[in-house]
Amino acid sequence: MKVLLLGSGGREHALARALSRSPSLTRLLILPGNDGMAHEGQRVTDIALADHAAILAFCRQEAIDLVVVGPEAPLVAGLADDLAAAGFAVFGPSKAAAQLEGSKDFTKSVCNAAGIPTAAYATFTDHAGALAYLRAKGAPIVVKYDGLMAGKGVTVAASLSEAEEAIAALYANEPAAKVVIEEMMEGEEASYFCLIDGETVVPFGSAQDHKRVFDNDRGPNTGGMGAYSPAPVFTAALEAETLARIVRPTALEMVKRGMAYRGVLFAGLMLTAEGPKLIEYNCRFGDPECQALMLRFEGDLVQVLAAAARGKLASVQVALQPAHAVGIVMAAKGYPGDYARGSVIRGLDKAAALPGVTIFHAGTKHVDGAVTSHGGRVLTVCATGNSLLDARNRAYAAVAAIDWPEGFCRRDIAARGLARLGQA
Ligand code: AMP
Ligand code: GLY
Repeated sequence: MKVLLLGSGGREHALARALSRSPSLTRLLILPGNDGMAHEGQRVTDIALADHAAILAFCRQEAIDLVVVGPEAPLVAGLADDLAAAGFAVFGPSKAAAQLEGSKDFTKSVCNAAGIPTAAYATFTDHAGALAYLRAKGAPIVVKYDGLMAGKGVTVAASLSEAEEAIAALYANEPAAKVVIEEMMEGEEASYFCLIDGETVVPFGSAQDHKRVFDNDRGPNTGGMGAYSPAPVFTAALEAETLARIVRPTALEMVKRGMAYRGVLFAGLMLTAEGPKLIEYNCRFGDPECQALMLRFEGDLVQVLAAAARGKLASVQVALQPAHAVGIVMAAKGYPGDYARGSVIRGLDKAAALPGVTIFHAGTKHVDGAVTSHGGRVLTVCATGNSLLDARNRAYAAVAAIDWPEGFCRRDIAARGLARLGQA
């Protein structure tokens, strides 16, 4: 099959590698990809992801058999609808179904209708109403912008004044902003991934991300500074409960609404004392969770994603091996704030040759034969192992072999999982 992969980050590099190793792949095209993943397929750099007409024309011209959409923005913008209407198989939900990521208020309404455990909430489109509710509820409390904000639209406020500031900032930016205010949930977080086509749900495994920029979960939120899979905290019993009470009811509710979900559904979970509760859904794989998951995926990813795209997921099972994978994000100093581009990264070949190691590129550019940084999150340095400790140690050995003074990473990726397993 001839596959077109859309996106350019570390997640897409991991998808590209798994797709390129699929026996049923004949050719992989990547739009736009980045320099560090160029060897996985052929890059297409002259079409914008927002230009649906140009993407359609390209799919026709190249007779693409399957389109795999990495990031959420094209899905929320309806790219899957446009491709499906033209007869192309596409892995990724319709615009209506992508509201599960695109609108927190929509997701809450699905949770209400299907009885899915999540934080109690209220939605507002005016500053005064939001403030009155906030003051009635008190802190701690969580304030969320309703639409896509690349992970930056959420404030978990310990004090009332912090929450008031967050609301003021949202309404200053957009006078009729849709804002969700919800109860703060307590527990450990886990990311859970399922392939879905209509009523069929096929688990794709769990992971744990590290959202804060500095060790011990300090500093501002980022897109994710590292991940490991599986998440030991997410036991088989919790997985069964999550499927029964959260994921399956969501798939059924979406079918009932005439918005059957097709693609990967990423559930951000809070494992509370009362059981797993939904924090949010994403309509794509996580980044960097995908990097760890893909290193454990065994089989023909093209076939699996095509089955989901064509409504034939019932015949598919996903096998994950080896036991553990860890991915450490190396970012440019300053990220998630301002950072410089263009510093040279050395030692990548040496690092990649270490046992169990795979390095995914998120933002690199090849300049005169040198690999240079070209983004905030630049690399995901990954390793697999038979134990979480093995995988973690191998990944940090690879980090140590990389010579990039202008970069940094967290030093405590997987520490929580290791503690839980008694391997710390
Ligand atoms: P979201 O973009 O909805 O995933 O929120 C980003 C992060 O904010 C989550 O990963 C959680 O760490 C935190 N968060 C969001 N909602 C809640 C909540 N209701 N209670 C506690 N923490 C939350
Ligand atoms: N790593 C979290 C996300 O992809 O949203």
